[in-house]
Amino acid sequence: MNHMRTIVAGNWKMNTDLASAEALVEGLVKEAAAFPEGVEVVIAPPFPFLEMAVKRCTGARIIVAAQNCHHHEKGAYTGEVSAVMLKSIGVKACIVGHSERRQYSGESDKLIGEKAAALLAQGLTPIFCCGEQKEEREGGHHFDVVTEQMKGALGRFSNPELERIVIAYEPVWAIGTGLTASKEQAQEMHAHIRALLHTHGASVAERVPILYGGSCNPGNAEGLFAQADVNGGLIGGASLVVEQFLELVRIAGAAQVGSRQ
Ligand code: 13P
Repeated sequence: MNHMRTIVAGNWKMNTDLASAEALVEGLVKEAAAFPEGVEVVIAPPFPFLEMAVKRCTGARIIVAAQNCHHHEKGAYTGEVSAVMLKSIGVKACIVGHSERRQYSGESDKLIGEKAAALLAQGLTPIFCCGEQKEEREGGHHFDVVTEQMKGALGRFSNPELERIVIAYEPVWAIGTGLTASKEQAQEMHAHIRALLHTHGASVAERVPILYGGSCNPGNAEGLFAQADVNGGLIGGASLVVEQFLELVRIAGAAQVGSRQ
C-alpha cells in the first residue's frame, strides 16, 4: 500500500434491523479510539439507520455513508432519497454504481455519473464501484470493461472533482461468493485504474484511493492490502461482524505502516 489515504469501508447492504444496526455501530464506536492512525473507517448502513449511525458516530473516528442516492435534488420521485437529504443528516459519503444496483436496478454508467455529480454538488464523497463479470474476465475483457465504466461514469468530471472521489474495484464474480481476486489480480486491475486516473494528471492518480471489494475478509486481507495500488477495502459480509471488521481495520493499519518502512 502506498502513502495515500487508507480506507476500510463496510457496505451493510440490505442487512440488519434497528436493534442489530445499533449493536453493530456500538461495537465499532467502542473500539474507535484504538483504530490505527491513518486508516479512515467508513460504514454504510441501510437508509433507515443512517441518522442513528451518524449520531452515535459523532466524535468517534467513523464516517457514515449511504449505499445509494437519487441524482436529482428533490421532487416527484416517490421512494427516492437525495444527496441533499443525506447531507442534512450528517452523512458524508455514498456508494454509487455498486454491481448489485447495476444488475437489479439497471443503473447505467451515465446515471451513476449523475449520482456522483449530485453528491459532489453537496460536498459528499462518492464511492464509485466498478468491476467485471465472470464471463468478461474469462473472455479477457476485464480491463476494457472497467475502462468503459470509468469513462462512462467519471468522464464528465474536472480534475478537482475527480480528486474528491473514492474508487472501489469489485469484480462481480468475487462478491458474496467466497471467491476473492488473488492479490496479483487485484494489483494489476488497480494499477490499470491508477493509469486511467493518471491520464487526468499525476495529482488525480496520487489522490484517489482505490479500494478492493469482493469476499475480502481477515483471512485474505493482508495480501490484498499490501499491494502497491490497493488503498484498503470495501467490505460486504465481513462488515456485519464487529470482530471481523475491526480485524480488517487493524490489518489495513499494519499494511500502511509496512509500506512506510
Ligand atoms: P462481500 O464482501 O460480501 O463479497 O461484498 C463485497 C461488496 O459487494 C461490498 O460492496
